[in-house]
Amino acid sequence: MELLRLLLLLVLAIGTSEGCQVQSSSSETTKDWWETAQFYQIYPRSFKDSDGDGIGDLNGITSKLEYLKDLGVTAAWLSPIYTSPMVDFGYDISDFFDIQPEYGTLEDFRALIKRAKELDLKIILDFVPNHSSNESVWFKKSVKREKGYEDYYVWHDGKINPETGAREPPTNWLQYFRGSAWEWNEERQQYYLHQFAVQQPDLNYRNPLVVDQMKRVLRYWLNEGVSGFRCDALPPLFEVLPDADGQFPDEVVSGATEDSEDRDYLTTTYIENQPETIDMVYQWRTVLDDHKRIYGGNSSVLLIETYSPAWFTMQFYGNRSTEGAHLPFNFNLITVMEQRGLNASNVQEAIDLWLNNMPAGRTANWVIGNHDKLRASTRYGKEHIDAMNILVMILPGVSVTYQGEELGMTDGKISWEQTVDPWGCNSNADIYEKYSRDPARTPFQWTSGANAGFSDGNSTWLPLADDYQTVNVEQELSDELSHLKIYKALVALRKSSKTLQNGSIKYQATADNVLIVQRSLTSSATIVGVINFGSAAVTVDLSQFDKSRTESLQLLIRSIDSTKTEGTRYDPKTLSLDPAEALVLTTE
Ligand code: GLC
Ligand code: MG
Repeated sequence: MELLRLLLLLVLAIGTSEGCQVQSSSSETTKDWWETAQFYQIYPRSFKDSDGDGIGDLNGITSKLEYLKDLGVTAAWLSPIYTSPMVDFGYDISDFFDIQPEYGTLEDFRALIKRAKELDLKIILDFVPNHSSNESVWFKKSVKREKGYEDYYVWHDGKINPETGAREPPTNWLQYFRGSAWEWNEERQQYYLHQFAVQQPDLNYRNPLVVDQMKRVLRYWLNEGVSGFRCDALPPLFEVLPDADGQFPDEVVSGATEDSEDRDYLTTTYIENQPETIDMVYQWRTVLDDHKRIYGGNSSVLLIETYSPAWFTMQFYGNRSTEGAHLPFNFNLITVMEQRGLNASNVQEAIDLWLNNMPAGRTANWVIGNHDKLRASTRYGKEHIDAMNILVMILPGVSVTYQGEELGMTDGKISWEQTVDPWGCNSNADIYEKYSRDPARTPFQWTSGANAGFSDGNSTWLPLADDYQTVNVEQELSDELSHLKIYKALVALRKSSKTLQNGSIKYQATADNVLIVQRSLTSSATIVGVINFGSAAVTVDLSQFDKSRTESLQLLIRSIDSTKTEGTRYDPKTLSLDPAEALVLTTE
């Protein structure tokens, strides 16, 4: 998969010569709520604890909805809140129709939805279709081959080794969290497939009963008033069909790593990105649209998690005859930088990679972090967090923020002993930092007080990040300028600017490591973002980028260390930029 992605990048790099990239865009039409939305991801376990057990919960979230309102975001996506043994912190669900007791009750959830509605905030839930927990009644019944549940999961006899006579897993397939994707079940005397942890058996989507059951899950939460779903882990939803003898093919060695436990050790040709997966998402879209047709109300949305190559990802949007997901997540600002490092031309390439592949008439989106990646401030460097927030807010389409990005929160330090993430725990003390996702999941920082204002308890489920005394909501609201204030100004600008909502885009990386992003709309002010990704001071001439850019520009928003002044007009022909300085300017 890595190889494929690299190849794709290469092809694109050759295909797009340097210089300006111009994208036409939809003209000024009325847009549905989600097309210009700011989505905010809440990791419930780490957002706000209301009962002192050191674990975030629903009442905690409800008590902080006004914070989201104040940020100006449109919708909050909650990572899973369903009943779960918490092996993968909620992504292993034992009851898709109820709430994890640590997080609260269904009544608490209803109160959350009610309060959100009062504040005109939308709530999106995480939908985890690929697997359940092994503690789900479905799995227990399937183990016992109970009627109707026999084929709920992907069961297989395995193979008998002709030399040793021993039973072996059906294939060499590897799970995401290191090691074999097959687990032997003593009781049923078969292997089951788990693309994630052993405790996360894969549901069998070739069984229509499973397909129906998961649609029931969607309808159930739509009836509870949610405005859509972030759909988890789509690439492994389907595996290739077995051959006539019921055998699956092995994957081949990819060459991407020497570590034979790491999923990247093998290709994922047969276990990811199958065409049936695309079709399933189209079916879910029908469930959502039907719900709206029957009950009225706002559109509800599907946001798709996929780290797949563009040829696969873009199909989720739908085709000429079928609507698909509203938004397959665009992780290019994460993945391209992970592979090549942060600089202006790599950012340009990440933007190209999405906009040049997106089918016409669809909505783009921009993501710089989530609960699976190190925090944006740590990955890009603290000095670039405003620049990255500027990018997601001024690029066309939808912005997505992971909790804490608005504050510039950095990774927590988690020792091997403190690591609880299965991806980390399945490795060892020497390499766990490459895998553990705990550093990005430390408690949200509300204040400089005890437990960063996250919890009144004696301890928190993960330790706090070191910098909570300076990086927190309370502090950043009182500072004259802060990452939080910059973030809020960006959201406000997106909401008021017709140009950012509907304008066309032109962008370019200069030879000096500066990225220029210009958004224009007839009879509306042009917005220009200028970001110096380099470590040297530079002067840019914006009239080189756009010949009509000769009049002075007014500064609207600046990164935290910039010494310029909002409201001041600057000459676009000699715009000086300090290292890491990022500016948003306007023609008005
Ligand atoms: C997704 C989630 C991740 C989880 C996995 C399995 O990638 O974002 O946190 O571990 O799916 O559900
Ligand atoms: Mg709690």
